[in-house]
Order: sequence, then C-alpha cells, then structure tokens
Amino acid sequence: MEIIENIASMQAFAERKRMEGKLMGLVPTMGSLHEGHLTLIREAKSRTDIVVVSIFVNPTQFGPGEDYDSYPRDLEGDARKVISAGGDMIFSPSASDMYPEGYLTYVDVGKVTEPLCGLSRPEHFRAVATVVNKLFNIIKPHKAFFGQKDYQQSVVIKRMVKDLNMDIDIIVLPTVREPDGLAMSSRNSYLSEEERKVSPVLYKSLTIASCMIRDREKNARKILSAIKRMIEKEPLVSIDYIAITDSETLKDIDEIKGKTLIALAVRIGKMRLIDNILTEPQGS
Ligand code: PAJ
Repeated sequence: MEIIENIASMQAFAERKRMEGKLMGLVPTMGSLHEGHLTLIREAKSRTDIVVVSIFVNPTQFGPGEDYDSYPRDLEGDARKVISAGGDMIFSPSASDMYPEGYLTYVDVGKVTEPLCGLSRPEHFRAVATVVNKLFNIIKPHKAFFGQKDYQQSVVIKRMVKDLNMDIDIIVLPTVREPDGLAMSSRNSYLSEEERKVSPVLYKSLTIASCMIRDREKNARKILSAIKRMIEKEPLVSIDYIAITDSETLKDIDEIKGKTLIALAVRIGKMRLIDNILTEPQGS
C-alpha cells in the first residue's frame, strides 16, 4: 500500500485520477482503524473507483487536556486494514505541513456546532470543518463517507458542503457496534475491564428511548428522564449530556413529531463516550 505524506503529491495523484475519469471516494479518519472505519472504506469502494483513506490525528480538534498526545497511532497496522477493506491509497500528512507557520484560516459552520458536543468542546467542530475542508481541497473527492456515530459532525459537514457550494456527495453510514451494542471507537481500548462491562448502557438506554418514541410517547422530558434513570444506575458512568433534538437543526424539542435524534455523551473513567440513535413515531 502506497502512503502519500506530501500534500502536493496527493494533489497531483488526485488530479491525475480525476483526469482519467475516475470517481474519487474519500474516507477521512484519524487512524487506529476498526470495523466502523473499514465498513466506510468497503462502502466507498463499492460506490467509487479510487478510495483514498486519510489518516491524520488533527491536533486542532483536541481541546486542552484532551487526549491528542495519547491518541492511538498505528500507521502500519492501519495500512494492512485499508488494503483488506479495498482502499487504494492512504494520505497521512504531518501536522506541520497541514498547519504551517502563519496558518490563519478556519471554517465556522455556526449554530449546529454549538449544542450537544459543542457545549463541552467549543472549538471542536470549527477545527473538524476546517480540516475536512482542507482534505476535500487536497483530494478532490466526488463522494466522502462519514459515520452516524459522530452524528453532529456529519450534520456540520453536510451544512458546510451545502453552504459553500462544494460539489461533493456526503454519505453517512450507520454506526457499527460491538455485539453488546457499544459503538466501536478507537478510544474503547482505553476502557478498563470494569468500565467496558458497564458501557453497553449507552446503547441500551437509547434503544429503550427509541422504542418509547416508536410507541408514540411524545413528551421528550419523559423520555429524557427514562434514559437518565437507566444511566444513573451505573456508578461508573457520569452524564455529560442527553438530548432529544430535531435531526437537522439539532435544536432541542419538547414534543416529538417526525424524525428525531436522541444523542448522549457520558464519561466512564477518563473516557468520554458518545452515541446516538435516529428514530420516529411509528406510522409517521
Ligand atoms: P475518526 O474518529 O477516526 O472517525 C472517522 C470516521 O469514521 C468518521 O466519519 C466517524 O463517524 C466514523 N466512525 C467512527 N466510529 C464508527 C462506528 N462505530 N461506526 C461507523 N462509523 C464510525 O471523525 C473523525 O475521525 C475526525 O473528526 C475526522 C472526520 C477524520 C476529521 O479529523
């Protein structure tokens, strides 16, 4: 597997493939690849000719005290996984090439970056939108693939693409989970055995909440308290937020009507875990 580290070389490769008439797919990642990422790569390969997987632990999207330095990195292992999933090329630039001295430009997507994870990570989505914009400019994909696991991120990217008239198809694929329901994440390996044991409570509570909505419970407050009650039974888990929102604007809703997002973030030990589910009342 060829790994391109140089930005100009990546741009030249992408330009050449476009000129050859190839449909270009991009799967942006921060590496430490797991089955969630590999599903995106396989799906990208089934929908495009050339799949570029970017592996870049983006320093600007980590807040102070977050895990940038200890974020798992394994480029060699990742390269083997990219090959096994059908990826064609890895782009892995250095932070100093992506943000050289004098770097000033950021993309601010506004309101949708503020609620949910934006509350405790105020600079995060501005940094994500900026790096994804840079990757789009370097790789020039026709289609880019994201996971529902980071639902707010996918909303931010879709909004940016629409607002800035980027000619890129954004495809969001369902969250891939462990057999017990825990959403796969590069950070799961840092959970202790005890923490790992209680972590399925996230998805369990979301599933129960989703059933309540499908059974036509309309009162968001009742559903929020049901989730809260379940999670609070686990002493190792503390809640960052639980929210029921409109699936596009991410604004809180009181009365459930159509397609609804239930999203949550918790802390288990030192780890912050997020999960979400999209749901709607049956027959709506
Ligand atoms: P990272 O956390 O590595 O995730 C890369 C992509 O994989 C994202 O689109 C994410 O939603 C998706 N993904 C992660 N876990 C998943 C799972 N269990 N099921 C399905 N998809 C999953 O998200 C980022 O990196 C970064 O913010 C990035 C977009 C690369 C910008 O730096």
